[in-house]
Amino acid sequence: MNLCPTHALVLYCEVMRAVASAPGKVILFGEHAVVYGRPAIAVPVTQVRATAEAEPGEPGHGLVLVAADVGLTVPLAQAPADDPLATTARLTLDYLGVASAPDAVITVRSTIPIASGMGSGAAVSTAIARVLAALVGRSLTAGETSALVFEVEKLYHGTPSGIDNTVVAHERPVYFVKGEPPQPFPIARPFTLAIADTGIASPTKIVVGDVRRAWQANPAPYERLFDRIGAIAQAARQAMEVGDVAALGPLMDENHRLLQDLGVSSPELDRLAAAARAAGAWGAKPSGAGRGGNLIALIPPAQAALIGAALQEAGAKGVIVTQVG
Ligand code: PMV
Repeated sequence: MNLCPTHALVLYCEVMRAVASAPGKVILFGEHAVVYGRPAIAVPVTQVRATAEAEPGEPGHGLVLVAADVGLTVPLAQAPADDPLATTARLTLDYLGVASAPDAVITVRSTIPIASGMGSGAAVSTAIARVLAALVGRSLTAGETSALVFEVEKLYHGTPSGIDNTVVAHERPVYFVKGEPPQPFPIARPFTLAIADTGIASPTKIVVGDVRRAWQANPAPYERLFDRIGAIAQAARQAMEVGDVAALGPLMDENHRLLQDLGVSSPELDRLAAAARAAGAWGAKPSGAGRGGNLIALIPPAQAALIGAALQEAGAKGVIVTQVG
């Protein structure tokens, strides 16, 4: 549809269109311990993405947000205060100092599994912030985008550590310590992950709360577990920076045992990990909050199909294979 006025005096009309996207993410090392100040590593998962596409809207109608996957249309002016898409748009326009929203339609789509620790919320917010900035002729740095998305995350996830918005907005592997500037770092040699979904929803807030209560009741052994998990994250960063992929498998396996000791693995996650290892994976562990969500396995790329089949046989509801680096 061409919305340019057809009046004879209009000699030139440029209608702005823009597209922006952002990847999913998985936590590779350090979940839970990161809440207690130890480092964690998260990496982008580029095979799955959220995309926001802006088109000109009806003149005078303001900004309209469309969540295409769920068939929801949200005019910004009428959106409730707790709508996450509208909140992202409002915070972005405020940040950019744009008083009135442009007449445009932003359509959001995502292939990132929702509520499975893959950062789908952060990715959708990132795509919206970026496309909206482009629409008003501005751009946001990765750091600015990350900070904006963190504000949205805080509204919906209580006390997020900030790892999701950081890795998704920077689209790079990130070494993350709570309260410190995130450290994106290079990966010297790419490696392949299989990400297997248990199909079990496990709210992060509940699992984090359980760990906190156990730590409060008996801090010393939990501190030791967190220290060891932190040391693994540190060693893994070094290994990735020098391309020592072989070192990563055993580190994942050890991190898995520590997550079991923390009480955040589950029979389903353990079964998927065992199946992946038996089929040739170099290492495996739960990713994210645990008890459900995803199992990640470091795999030889040539064995991706075999290991994917083994994971499905062991109960995975979906498997994503992705290259990191
Ligand atoms: O499941 P996810 O990706 O939301 O990860 C939770 C990670 C925790 O370390 C358990 C909590 C956090 O805020 O970092």
